[in-house]
Amino acid sequence: MTRVVVVGSINMDLVTLAPRFAEPGETILGERFLTVHGGKGANQAVAAARLGAEVALVGALGDDAFGEQLHAGLAREGVALEHVARIADCGSGTASITVAGGENHIIVVPGANARVTPAQVEGAQSVLSRADAILVQMEIPLDAIEATLRLGHRLGKPVILNPAPAQRLPVEWMQLARYLTPNQHELAILLGAGANEDFLSLMQRSPAPLVLTRGADGAWYRDGGEPAHQAGFKVEAVDTTGAGDTFNAALAVFLHEGLPTAVRKACAAAALSVTRLGAQGGMPTRTELDAFLAKAPTV
Ligand code: RIB
Repeated sequence: MTRVVVVGSINMDLVTLAPRFAEPGETILGERFLTVHGGKGANQAVAAARLGAEVALVGALGDDAFGEQLHAGLAREGVALEHVARIADCGSGTASITVAGGENHIIVVPGANARVTPAQVEGAQSVLSRADAILVQMEIPLDAIEATLRLGHRLGKPVILNPAPAQRLPVEWMQLARYLTPNQHELAILLGAGANEDFLSLMQRSPAPLVLTRGADGAWYRDGGEPAHQAGFKVEAVDTTGAGDTFNAALAVFLHEGLPTAVRKACAAAALSVTRLGAQGGMPTRTELDAFLAKAPTV
């Protein structure tokens, strides 16, 4: 069984479905409100577990009711939570999400996620040293991200850095990652590039091998040679929240099958994830993914 360790955030997603996005200063009536479990770290952990991996999460929750619910949800998914800290007198992370026309707007308040420390990451060394792949995103403090990259590298483990939400990072940190997995917008921020630069030229400037996600267009990847393209799988999008997380999880789970296969399976898993509401709602099981791929045209 593939072992994946995720170092990252855990949020309660406060989701409003609306006919469209409100303009600044405008009030509109929404259609439905729901609370669903999310956070990029937790989402990637759940997606990897559903795909059949043995998964441990390193992160932090508050001592509030959301913390209880999120902890119970992750435990139900079979994610090992020994390295998830419970922070006293602190709220759990939240994400206010508006979904309209299959797209989303998200504002994250980190709460306990801001209390993940380098010492906590180093304290998880025994778990990290047994991992086949390590996933880290950017909803936790930068020093904890750096600690994950350095420790993973020292242990000789492939670390996948999903730079979301993106901000500029030292080139040396990025070079510690086995793969960066930005979308085009995130890659431009990482490189300090202009908004109009073509994604293929951005890819050539990446300081580390990368897999660039392109939504419905699938993904481009580059590991040394020329960039290669994996087309997207056609589905009816209901909610794209968590698609990137599903992609990253599948990439980690299937990395041992080689990059082209892992990217193809990641695109398929991400496509399935957008067909249902909520970040974790549409994440496929291994059986669902296999059935989808068996019927899908060869793209
Ligand atoms: O990637 C989707 C996630 O981003 C949501 O679940 C939300 O919590 C934010 O972290």
